[in-house]
Amino acid sequence: MKAKIKKNKKPAKVVIKKPIKKEKMKKNEEQKTVSDKNKKTWTALRGMHDILPKEEKYWKSMYNVSSKLAEYMQFARIETPILEEASLFIRSIGKTTDVVEKEMYVFDDSDGGKICLRPEATASVVRAYVSDGLWNNPQPVKVWYWGPMFRHDRPQAGRYRQFTQVGFENIGVLDPAADAELIMIAFNFYKDLKLPVEIHINSIGTPEERERYKNELLNYYRTKKSYLCEECRKRMQKNPLRLLDCKEEQCQGVKEEAPQIVDWLSENSKNYFMKVLEYLDELGVPYILRPSLVRGLDYYTHTVFEVYPISGEGAAQSALGGGGRYDLLVEELGGKSTPAAGMALGIDRSVIYMKEFYQQNQLRVEKEPYDIFFAQLGDRAKGRAMKILDDLRESNIKIAFNLYKNSLKTQLDIANELKVPYSLILGQKEVQEGTIIIRDMESGIQEIVDQKKIETALKKKLKKFDDTNK
Ligand code: HAM
Repeated sequence: MKAKIKKNKKPAKVVIKKPIKKEKMKKNEEQKTVSDKNKKTWTALRGMHDILPKEEKYWKSMYNVSSKLAEYMQFARIETPILEEASLFIRSIGKTTDVVEKEMYVFDDSDGGKICLRPEATASVVRAYVSDGLWNNPQPVKVWYWGPMFRHDRPQAGRYRQFTQVGFENIGVLDPAADAELIMIAFNFYKDLKLPVEIHINSIGTPEERERYKNELLNYYRTKKSYLCEECRKRMQKNPLRLLDCKEEQCQGVKEEAPQIVDWLSENSKNYFMKVLEYLDELGVPYILRPSLVRGLDYYTHTVFEVYPISGEGAAQSALGGGGRYDLLVEELGGKSTPAAGMALGIDRSVIYMKEFYQQNQLRVEKEPYDIFFAQLGDRAKGRAMKILDDLRESNIKIAFNLYKNSLKTQLDIANELKVPYSLILGQKEVQEGTIIIRDMESGIQEIVDQKKIETALKKKLKKFDDTNK
């Protein structure tokens, strides 16, 4: 029988507090009241939100999927400034749209003129296409971006005043394949993230076709005026196409019976649209024809589409992304007549959908596992460990470590939790001898190697480097 070893109980420490001198006490009191008086805490502005470390995995996977898709589909990265002239968006998005009328963050610049935080980036990209001479390059110019947009909207779930979009723009080609390619990228973005979505699609033809349709629409709506909500009555005056966007219950019946734009399209426009749909069929991208889809921005022509989650509640029910053709925008912004198409996906909303869907379906965001845990013991070992970690930075070996824990047991517990196959152990003795221990975490077998040979020794042991050792 093993004898139980009783640990000696240490006597409790008696802490004798020095008496605080009177002046010091007074000073402390003064400091306390000053700091209390100045105490204020800040929260993010209404409609803006912090993206915390625990959310990073979602954002990172969305960024990685976007950049991989962009590279494969040959879209080059473009970054445009967050601030632009306000008139750029008024001209392109349209004076009577919600974005321009109600949602732009517009400021007076100190050198005169009105500037604004970009509400979207298509207009900025087209501005760059014209002003940076991208029209001189081989066409089409295919670019993608990722960044913050600003709309002073009424905040609610999934609707923020600062939000992130990833966008793809294809400028310089009129080909239904370009439209289908953009829809395929949007669809594949969600497919790669294991998120089911469907595409809602429509064609709004050319401005002339739309003008004829608007008249017909107005004639129809005039006969139904008494059933309409306040906002729709205003829309009849200002922007009749937006009537089809109304979400009010009382207007739904009228909307459903409204004339459909496809019946006002020319043969050419219809054929173009049919070709886009044929490509989508070939690609196996599920879509729903939605005759009432007109989009909230005025620059679109022909194909328009939006991406919706298949399942989802609340915020996850709104459009995750949208886009379409904008053949007149380059000319509108001072360039030559140039066809173009694009789309943008809302990342904040997609993250909400991803969290909800992953939770419901018990899916996990896969993290690349660590190869090694690096444990160190003692002061000198800590410094040396930092140097070795720095030396191994380019080695491609994924190393976990915790320089603030001093006990070996705690550090090896972390190593076990991370399920690494090997740990490096560096103590005072190893520092002196220029060696390091490699411990097999499953068998517990330890091997001592020269510090100069750590990288080679580890790569020999780790399966992922098998190829380099052949
Ligand atoms: P959009 O439909 O206005 O299109 O925005 C695209 C996506 O951005 C939306 O589907 C949504 O996910 C996200 N989004 C928009 N507003 C907010 C908001 N307030 N809060 C959170 N997310 C939001 C465009 O912006 C066009 N530039 C797309 C495009 C590119 N068309 C051609 N090329």
